[in-house]
Amino acid sequence: MTKKINKIGVLTSGGDAPGMNAAIRAVVRACANYKIECIGVYEGYRGLMENNMISLGPRAVANTINRGGTFLRSARCLEFIQPEGRVIAHANLVKNGIDALVVIGGDGSFTGALKLNNEFDFPVIGIPGTIDNDINGTDYTIGYDTALNTVVEAIDKIRDTASSHNRLFLIEVMGRGAGDIAISAGIGGGAEEILIPEKKNFSIDRLIESLDHSHETGKTSSIVVVAEGKNGMNILEMRDYVNKHRPEYDVRVSVLGHMQRGGAPSCFDRVLASKLGVGAVDALMQGKTNIMIGISHRKAVCVDLNVALDKNRKLDIDLLRVADIVSK
Ligand code: ADP
Ligand code: F6P
Repeated sequence: MTKKINKIGVLTSGGDAPGMNAAIRAVVRACANYKIECIGVYEGYRGLMENNMISLGPRAVANTINRGGTFLRSARCLEFIQPEGRVIAHANLVKNGIDALVVIGGDGSFTGALKLNNEFDFPVIGIPGTIDNDINGTDYTIGYDTALNTVVEAIDKIRDTASSHNRLFLIEVMGRGAGDIAISAGIGGGAEEILIPEKKNFSIDRLIESLDHSHETGKTSSIVVVAEGKNGMNILEMRDYVNKHRPEYDVRVSVLGHMQRGGAPSCFDRVLASKLGVGAVDALMQGKTNIMIGISHRKAVCVDLNVALDKNRKLDIDLLRVADIVSK
């Protein structure tokens, strides 16, 4: 028989994402709804190792739904990757009487959660929180929508300069190994070309051909969105190559960087985070473990954590076709 859950721990881990606060808030208030205690763990797995925790009642999360970042703070904790680190973390969970852990983070955080379960039979539930949208089994991760809106706003601004000066802009966006941010923000920002790691047949000469074609058809400025995880040339080498072979193009590079992770979460991310936070506590109370709560066709769904971590996750192929058609 599974042990009754009386106290749930919650932490945010890996890269912060807008909407993480909304997810913590939902977990805390769902615990209150079940009349059980919620413990917030500071700085992801580091807080577990350093026993840095706080009891969170429903009023402790007032005025957090609209705030970017994570008030529990996040960390990339290398010690937790070692088995000895996880022994310390588990001992602190037991010492604090925590019966189950909700981990809000990305694939690395989920891998850590799975290990905690495999090694100590400790109940864990993952909530996908990352701007990258690179988790299998969920249509969206928390923070992705806000990041997209931030990127599109930046592209719109850069477009003003690009068109005023007849310039070519190469804009690098985040996403680690995934092209989700690039493809959606590229379409939304009206990019002429979108370079993503999933598009294996890309070559710099094809990019030049495509720019030439755009030029011939009357375009005087161009926006090219480049995913940071794209294989091959980096964005500066790309600029140098285009400069060398098409000196007539006035090329500029813009790396958007961490601004993409900041800011108040969009309404979409707040609602998503609220649904997934409540779903995570519901699942734990039903005795579930080793799953991620994701979203599919507007419903919260339980996905095995191993499935969530599947590296063969496919990008939405239709988007590639749409991007090709609308950028011509
Ligand atoms: P994300 O969760 O956004 O992918 P990271 O990959 O940095 O971010 O992972 C966040 C944290 O999860 C790491 O700092 C580490 O504490 C833990 N973690 C990542 N990979 C592992 C692993 N293989 N084993 C145990 N813990 C891990
Ligand atoms: O996973 C989120 C993310 O912002 C990625 O898009 C990016 O590759 C990475 O984190 C950057 O990590 P850091 O903030 O540690 O530089």
